[in-house]
Amino acid sequence: MNRRTLIALTLAATFASTTAFAQAPAAAPIVIKFSHVVATDTPKGKGAVRFKELAEKLTGGRVKVELYANSSLYKDKEEMEALQLGAVQMLAPSLAKFGPLGVKEFEVFDLPFLFVDQAALTRATQGPVGKMMLAKLEPKGIKGLAFWNNGFKQMTSNKQLHVPADFKGMKMRIQSSKVLDAQFRSVGANPQVMAFSEVYQALQTGVVDGTENTPSNIYTQKMHEVQKFMTISDHGYIGYAVIVNKKFWDSLPADIRSKLDQAMAESTTYANAIAQVENDQAVAGIRKWGKTTIYTLTPAEKAQWRTAMLPVRKEMESRVGKDTLAAIDQAVK
Ligand code: LMR
Repeated sequence: MNRRTLIALTLAATFASTTAFAQAPAAAPIVIKFSHVVATDTPKGKGAVRFKELAEKLTGGRVKVELYANSSLYKDKEEMEALQLGAVQMLAPSLAKFGPLGVKEFEVFDLPFLFVDQAALTRATQGPVGKMMLAKLEPKGIKGLAFWNNGFKQMTSNKQLHVPADFKGMKMRIQSSKVLDAQFRSVGANPQVMAFSEVYQALQTGVVDGTENTPSNIYTQKMHEVQKFMTISDHGYIGYAVIVNKKFWDSLPADIRSKLDQAMAESTTYANAIAQVENDQAVAGIRKWGKTTIYTLTPAEKAQWRTAMLPVRKEMESRVGKDTLAAIDQAVK
């Protein structure tokens, strides 16, 4: 083969492969930006990682899930707006954060001493009540896919909190829920709404005196390092609704959506199975750190908290909806 033929053949081959490439471009993956505010090493953080792995595997790479943990993309209030605008496609906000969206019924989950244990809670979230609640998001342009557990809340502060009177005048950080506001007012504290990403610094600098959260959140944000006391009170619960932008979800090809449904179902089972363990390990971690005194309420003290906080239920009944409350009561029985 002479040199001219070789060049001609090379050119022809190059042309052919470029044309073939132009005719069948590799389809760009569908990107799901999943933003959340907690550390990766938490029930929600790990659930999100599991969803990413499953979604990418089950769709053979046609979907790419980008995770943004620890408020690295948006803080609490902004992420809700970003989801509605379509700047992110998936979130898993705490159920205490849906009030500003206008879906006040979700605050029912913040009522103190509503759930005796995780099993009662699971009956509420994984059954018909849960479905009914997720459906309330649709008019807001949001589709609810699942409920993920975190766990029961404990109190932290730089002062011992054993009986309701100990809360008098304490500035306590809360999530944006009117039920939580009422809960702290019922024991004489001053609740202050604050984004999760700002809590550590607010505790460190004394902007607030204390807060409530699950052990996994306290531990992974190092809140215990700036709080002298932690009271194991299990007085309330934090869990999540995994939500997507409805327009985005509805626009997905049906086969992709069903794979994502499968990925969500499997990651929900996983996240809910590890939540309790993660929280137990976090308490152990705080104990090991050794500088935060951990106190468990006695049954008599707990009864005092319950008596003090119980009027919140009646007070907030009209906000969370009488029907919602009755449905939850029925489910947890
Ligand atoms: C909080 O703001 O305290 C929690 O909702 C954070 C979270 O997502 O668990």
